[in-house]
Amino acid sequence: MRLDGKVAIITGGASGIGRATVHKFVREGAKVLVADIDRARAEEVVAEVEEAGFPGSAAATAVDVSVFAQVEQMVAEAVRVFGAVHVIFNNAGIAGGVPLLEHDPEADYERIVRVDQNGVYYGIVAAGRQMAKQGSGGVIISTSSVYGEQAAELSFTYSAAKAAVISFTRSAAYELAEHGIRAVAITPGRVATPIINQFSDELRATFAAEQLRGRLTNPDEIADVVAFLASDESRVINGTVVSVDDGYSV
Ligand code: NAI
Repeated sequence: MRLDGKVAIITGGASGIGRATVHKFVREGAKVLVADIDRARAEEVVAEVEEAGFPGSAAATAVDVSVFAQVEQMVAEAVRVFGAVHVIFNNAGIAGGVPLLEHDPEADYERIVRVDQNGVYYGIVAAGRQMAKQGSGGVIISTSSVYGEQAAELSFTYSAAKAAVISFTRSAAYELAEHGIRAVAITPGRVATPIINQFSDELRATFAAEQLRGRLTNPDEIADVVAFLASDESRVINGTVVSVDDGYSV
């Protein structure tokens, strides 16, 4: 098992890509702190893990990643429950969707930056400090988006925040290499999670057609890549972006 003996924090672990990654990580032998603003759903994911035959492999904690003190508490909770932090998957995120000229700066800019940008920064700093203190390296994986590398309709703020995630990843890899800590960003395209599933069948079909094989990505398919990135098998992948968009951006 590729993640045997590893302790991981997965933010946004209650749903979608995060939830799928929790399941993948425990199957690979990791202990996982499922961290989400929705505590009830995080606890449901822990119950799923127990039912799947991995009792004690996951625990839930409530966190709002846009509040640094809560992110620090999240890291402390992982140490309290599982004894260390070897991997953090900064994955919690929210989408926008309002034309630029109709923006309410608080609702359509500040709110998204706080979660999608600041939340990742806080995760890097808080988990990075813990990993450096432990002295045995670590991996920081953060969820950007194809929108982090290109403009898109109704995505002014989201694109900027997701671009920042890529920049943070490069700089974190640069600064934290001396501690043996790697940083990698992933750029999903169209993944069948509640963020996408809220839209009409027609719009979902349009999204599917944007990927080369004409279908939405399953969250499990992203989780497979994240598990590889969290494992030592990917030890030479550092400070870069791993595209997981099934050809969206060719
Ligand atoms: P999702 O909506 O299924 O999951 C997001 C999770 O984040 C939810 O459980 C939610 O409660 C949690 N969350 C939201 N705000 C939070 C906060 N302030 N603190 C802690 N947790 C919070 O969405 P999905 O699709 O799984 O998204 C995961 C990541 O993937 C996000 O960063 C999203 O931007 C990114 N992404 C998703 C794509 C897609 O097509 N679904 C495409 C590209 C990127």
